[in-house]
Amino acid sequence: MVGLGYVGLPLLARAFESGMSTAGFDVSEAVVEGLNAGRSHVTDVPDSAVADMAAAGFRASTDPAVISEAETVVLCVPTGLAEGVPDLSAVRAAVRTVGEQLRPNTLVVLESTSYPGTTEELVRPLLERASGLVAGEEFHLVYSPERIDPGNEFFGVRNTPKIVGGITPLCAKHGVAFYGRFVDTLVVSRGTREAEMAKLLENTYRYVNIALVNEVALFCDRTDIDVWDVLHCAGTKPFGYAPFQPGPGVGGHCIPVDPVYLETMADGAGFSFRTLAAARAVNARMPEYVVARTERLLRDREQPVEGARVLLLGVSYKPDIADTRESPAYPVASGLLRSGADVVYHDPGVRALEVDGRELPRVDSAEEALRAADIAILLQDHSCYDPVRLVASRCLLLDTRGKLAGENVRHL
Ligand SMILES: NC(=O)c1ccc[n+]([C@@H]2O[C@H](COP(=O)([O-])OP(=O)(O)OC[C@H]3O[C@@H](n4cnc5c(N)ncnc54)[C@H](O)[C@@H]3O)[C@@H](O)[C@H]2O)c1
Repeated sequence: MVGLGYVGLPLLARAFESGMSTAGFDVSEAVVEGLNAGRSHVTDVPDSAVADMAAAGFRASTDPAVISEAETVVLCVPTGLAEGVPDLSAVRAAVRTVGEQLRPNTLVVLESTSYPGTTEELVRPLLERASGLVAGEEFHLVYSPERIDPGNEFFGVRNTPKIVGGITPLCAKHGVAFYGRFVDTLVVSRGTREAEMAKLLENTYRYVNIALVNEVALFCDRTDIDVWDVLHCAGTKPFGYAPFQPGPGVGGHCIPVDPVYLETMADGAGFSFRTLAAARAVNARMPEYVVARTERLLRDREQPVEGARVLLLGVSYKPDIADTRESPAYPVASGLLRSGADVVYHDPGVRALEVDGRELPRVDSAEEALRAADIAILLQDHSCYDPVRLVASRCLLLDTRGKLAGENVRHL
């Protein structure tokens, strides 16, 4: 496994459970040291699973030589944004490293999300150049997008169908043979571009639908309609409607990022993806809207935002995980600080949060902090937040998740 993060480590753990002999390569000393000491840095993989793997011979390493021993090499390295545009530098670096270690007949799989053409046009030539081997003839090359949903207790690696696209039908067969050992359902795509595009479609579908309900929430606020009741009613339709929830903004390593990959590719092809541009405009406004609503609620109580004590409840991008990447908590906290508010946060999983270059003060006890706050904003509905107790605090609450009810509660 090349890249032992949120995607690579759970996948590796499942491969290990299926009886495969596993090894990991990562450029991060901290990740490698932690794993070799039996510590997992990923919520979905307990320390005990890492210890079991280590007892069976698993080693993580920063030495690329470990790659040359593998029959199958899976790449799960980051594909984020740099200054708002797709950043494939980790894929390039990892592919070069793999290419230098590649032996004939190895199966190489890219799992990182990227735009269609990445496997054929970027990965393939880099691997061939670095290894001197020909893809599809001397080694097998596959794209298989990761669909992991961190923290999801119902769907994991085994029961989430996996798309496999090979640069040749034989490559796809090798991919199916590998994943078939620990994934129940495999879906073979026509080629790698279709598999790459399917992943972007899945995440863009979420992004666009979230934008739709976000905009419905803004409209309902303007026209005095209870959006949460609207969503509840519409959600009872058993066909033709998939429920999505509005929120303070779209976070995470995938949903806000992947549509940018699609838009960038579309731009390059002279194609204007209008749905995406509209969705981005709506989603990007949501943190600003939360700040404006907070200011409005304080003003209604004749309290200036300057010096107001604001408590943020839950700052990760999803409930019950510790990951804050692209979390709307950052722009919400930043906007409130700019307005002069005194902002603190509570989140059992997030030990530190840096906003605009400064550590945001963290509180251990939500209950104590609620007593001291002028307003609390429920940004993330972690399961530790008991709605009854939050409401009983009598603190003014702005609920961005539609979970609370009471006289002191205002909704997004
Ligand atoms: N996290 C998710 O929920 C999720 C879901 C589906 C798809 N994905 C996609 O999977 C890919 C990986 O995401 P992640 O969340 O696991 O990222 P991550 O940041 O958690 O892990 C990536 C790991 O790769 C390592 N790395 C970086 N450059 C490397 C290199 N050159 N060689 C070896 N290791 C290197 C990093 O040190 C890190 O440990 C991304 O393309 C992402 O879009 C993520």
